Amino acid sequence: MNRFVSLVFLWTLAVLSATGPVSGAEEGEISFEYHRYEELRKALVSVWLQCPSITRIYTVGESFEGRELLVLEMSDNPGTHEAGEPEFKYIGNMHGNEAVGRELIVYLAQYLCNQYQQGNESIIDLIHTTRIHLMPSMNPDGFEKAASQSGEMKDWFVGRSNAQGVDLNRNFPDLDRIVYGNEKEGGANNHLLNNMKKAVDENTKLAPETKAVIRWIMEIPFVLSANLHGGDVVANYPYDETRSGSTHEYSASPDDLTFKSLAKSYSQFNPVMSDPQRAPCRKNDDDTSFTDGITNGGAWYSVPGGMQDFNYLSSNCFEITLELSCDKFPAEETLKTYWEENRNSLVNYIEQVHRGVKGFVRDLQGGAIFNASISVEGIDHDITTAKDGDYWRLLAAGNYKVSASAPGYLTVIKKVAVPYSPAIRVDFELESLVERKEEEKEELMDWWKMMSETLNF
Ligand SMILES: *[C@@H]1O[C@H](CO)[C@@H](O)[C@H](O)[C@H]1NC(C)=O
Ligand SMILES: *[C@@H]1O[C@H](CO)[C@@H](O)[C@H](O)[C@H]1NC(C)=O
Ligand SMILES: [Zn+2]
Repeated sequence: MNRFVSLVFLWTLAVLSATGPVSGAEEGEISFEYHRYEELRKALVSVWLQCPSITRIYTVGESFEGRELLVLEMSDNPGTHEAGEPEFKYIGNMHGNEAVGRELIVYLAQYLCNQYQQGNESIIDLIHTTRIHLMPSMNPDGFEKAASQSGEMKDWFVGRSNAQGVDLNRNFPDLDRIVYGNEKEGGANNHLLNNMKKAVDENTKLAPETKAVIRWIMEIPFVLSANLHGGDVVANYPYDETRSGSTHEYSASPDDLTFKSLAKSYSQFNPVMSDPQRAPCRKNDDDTSFTDGITNGGAWYSVPGGMQDFNYLSSNCFEITLELSCDKFPAEETLKTYWEENRNSLVNYIEQVHRGVKGFVRDLQGGAIFNASISVEGIDHDITTAKDGDYWRLLAAGNYKVSASAPGYLTVIKKVAVPYSPAIRVDFELESLVERKEEEKEELMDWWKMMSETLNF
């Protein structure tokens, strides 16, 4: 699925070599402007050309009108999951008319590449220890529609949906309803889409953009993510959909503490978002209910079928939603200011992927145990190990009992003191039940031998 976009490259490289550096910016400079679809491709390719050893471009699929859902990956070994290395993603512009996030992701890619080349230790360290996936636009069709409007003022809604008129942030399978049912009747609290790949592929209600992103979420062992929007200024965390179905209701997930801490790690470095005196975006907005620049999704307003909760309930990935600007499509001259407000937050939030507990689950021979469950006492939400038996369990600071279990193995429980940061390493060695039976058999034989010797049979 992550097929290399060789055609895009060949075409773009030809254009690049014919026209020189893109959009008037010198290599190593960030050009604070809007990027239409073709310009976006060029901007990503120029980052790739500037930093080829740490970047890769791939596509997760196509929009309804056939535009690529492009991703720029940054890592010391682009293209591969390295055992023990956590994966992170930013997704922008899923509402096509919410344009600031799309541009900030492009600037972030340029910034990380520049800083890496200039020898910035913290950025080098981040890129060497993390696999970062940057998708500037999940809704390229909607963006083109929004950007094509004439005049400075953009309509509040034009371009929000995809080209079929589907609001992508209401189009994900509504797993909240399932988990709320399970809370009452018993049942799973995680990985609710297990063994349903075919059902997703065949579901005609899912837009092509949604389907592509679902497959992406299921395929890569993402640990942390944010989904960038506009229209307000706040960091929003799960659950987004309320339990009762009412419009406003605090809807805590089992990881409420951790999510609050993650949302704050973004808002605290954004001077506008964290400002308690910030004027509301519009006169009658209830922004005043935000403290520390964060809000629970359901408490703000209920969103069924959103991407944020889908990540948490279908995979190991924790996602929050970032609202970055009062204006959805502000004037181009303001983009540099948005970058300056958000730069430290964007980098700091990626670093949160290195919090909590991490390690490997192996058998007694050192073999990886894939799909083992990591449970935390008191938090009704398990995560699972990736192919190499590697896992990352994000947690707020505190004392926990963490256990690893897998079918056919004896469960191991460990007490862990988790600092704020960085993640503490805890490996698990699980004894298989077969091995345990053999041990017991041997013990019995030894006992029998001893008895026979003693009694002189
Ligand atoms: C290195 O990057 C960090 C994170 O973005 C930044 O805060 C710091 O100022 C950079 N250092 C230099 C010397 O530019
Ligand atoms: C992981 O384990 C669950 C149940 O323990 C199972 O339903 C699921 O199919 C497994 N996933 C994979 C990819 O093997
Ligand atoms: Zn939005």
